[in-house]
Amino acid sequence: MPNTPVDAHIEANKGRFLDELLDLLRIPSVSADPKYKADVARCAEAVKVRLVEAGLDKVEVCPTPGHPIVYGEKIIDPAKPTVLVYGHYDVQPPDPLDLWDSPPFEPVVKDGMIYARGSADDKGQFYMHVKALEAMLRTNGLPCNVKVMIEGEEEVGSTNLGPFVKANKERLAADVVLISDTSMIANDVPSINTGLRGLSYLEVEVTGPNRDLHSGVYGGAVANPINALCEMIASLHDADRRITIPGFYDAVRELSTQERAALAEAPFDEQEYTRDLGIPAVRGEQGYSTPERASIRPTLDVNGIWGGYIGEGAKTVLPSKASAKISMRLVPDQKSAEITRLFQQHFESIAPVGVTVKVTPHHGGEAAVTPTDSPAYLAASKAMEEAFGKKPIPTRGGGSIPIVALFEKELGLKTILFGFGLDSDNIHSPNERYGIFNYMKGITAIPRFFHHFAQSGK
Ligand code: BES
Ligand code: MN
Ligand code: MN
Repeated sequence: MPNTPVDAHIEANKGRFLDELLDLLRIPSVSADPKYKADVARCAEAVKVRLVEAGLDKVEVCPTPGHPIVYGEKIIDPAKPTVLVYGHYDVQPPDPLDLWDSPPFEPVVKDGMIYARGSADDKGQFYMHVKALEAMLRTNGLPCNVKVMIEGEEEVGSTNLGPFVKANKERLAADVVLISDTSMIANDVPSINTGLRGLSYLEVEVTGPNRDLHSGVYGGAVANPINALCEMIASLHDADRRITIPGFYDAVRELSTQERAALAEAPFDEQEYTRDLGIPAVRGEQGYSTPERASIRPTLDVNGIWGGYIGEGAKTVLPSKASAKISMRLVPDQKSAEITRLFQQHFESIAPVGVTVKVTPHHGGEAAVTPTDSPAYLAASKAMEEAFGKKPIPTRGGGSIPIVALFEKELGLKTILFGFGLDSDNIHSPNERYGIFNYMKGITAIPRFFHHFAQSGK
C-alpha cells in the first residue's frame, strides 16, 4: 500500500513509467560505433526532454568532442545538501544479433522482465532517478538539492567527461554522488556495492613475415604470429592462475582477515553459479573464493583475438599478423597507467624470435572504494531497507565505472553505488534485461535516500 504522496504518485503512474522507459530503449544509442552517432545525439535530446518534464531547471545538452552530456538541476536551498546523480544513456553494441530472442532495440516485456539493450545498463537504472525526481517534485517537493548528469560515453571510457568535470567544478559542486549502475545479490538479498575495480585496456599486434605465406612452403621455418601470440598470452598466467607480469601485484591492497570474513557473509551458491553459466567448474586464482576472484583480486582477460583465415572451409596459410584485445581489472591501489606500462614492457620482452610486437593502450580507470559509515551510506542503507524490508549487505563489485575515482579526485566526492540490477541481467550480452520489480524498487527507494540524506548529509 502506498503510504506517502510520493509512493502514491509512483503507484498511480507505474504504467507510464514503464512506457517511457521502453521509448528510451528504442533509441539505439551505441557509443562505440560511429554509425549510431545521430542516434546517440537523438537519445541525448530525449533525455533532456525527460529531465525538463520531470521538473528540473537549467536542463542542457552539453556538446563534447565526442557524444554529448545531459545536465539538469533543481536547487531548492543552497544551505541544504546537494546530491549529484550520474548515469549513462549510451549502451554497448548489440552484437552478436543472432543470439537475441527479440531485436535489441525493440523492447519486449516478458515474465516481468524488460528485454532490450540498455534496459539494465544503464537506461533502466538512470531513468529510475528521473521518475523518482518527478514523483518528489509533483508531490512533496525535494528535501534537498539535486544535480543530474547523464553522459553518452561511459561504455567507451568516458574520455570527454573528465575534462567536462574539471571545467565545471562549480556547477557540479555537491555533497555526494549517487549512481545506479551496478547490481545487487538477489531480489530478496539487497546489497550495496562498496567498491569497483579499475581497468587497463589495450590491444596487441604480433607481426611476422611481410605477407601471408603458404603454410606448407614456409611453415616450420618462419615464426607464425598466431602461434606466437597464443604462447605469449598463455604465459601471462602461472599454474596458480596468478598473473606473471613482474610488479603486477606490488601495489595490490590485501584485505585483512576480518574484511575477507565480512565479505564472505554475503550468500553465494557455487553450484547455482556454475549451473547458471553452463560451466563444468569455476577456475581462478589459488587461495581466493569465487566472489573474491571477481571483486577484490586483479585479473587479466583476452576480450577478442583474431588473425589468419576464419572463413568457410580450410585455407593453408601462415598469416602475417595476429592481434588481441586484452583487459586487466585492477584493485586499490594499483594505478592504471603504471599497470599499462608494466604490461607493455613485459609483453614486448617475451616476444619469441621471428616476430615483432606492438602494444597500443586504449582506455583505463582507477578502482574505487566507499566507506560504510558515512551519512550517505547510512541513508542509502536505510532507504533500501525500507524498500525491500531487509537491510542491504555491503559487497565489493567487479565491474568498473572509471568516473567514480575521478569524482573523488576532482570534486572531492564519495559515491553511493545505489544499483538495483542483478548479475543475471545479461549486461553487455545478448538478451539484456531488467526486472520491472527492480525498476519499481529503485523508483521507490530513491526518494527515501533523498529524505534520509537531507536530514543528515551536510
Ligand atoms: N555498469 C557497468 C559497470 C558495472 C556493472 C559495475 C556491473 C558493477 C557491476 C558499466 O557500464 C561498464 O560496463 N563499465 C565498463 C568499463 C568502461 C570503461 C568500458 C566495464 O566495467 O567493463
Ligand atoms: Mn553501466
Ligand atoms: Mn556497461
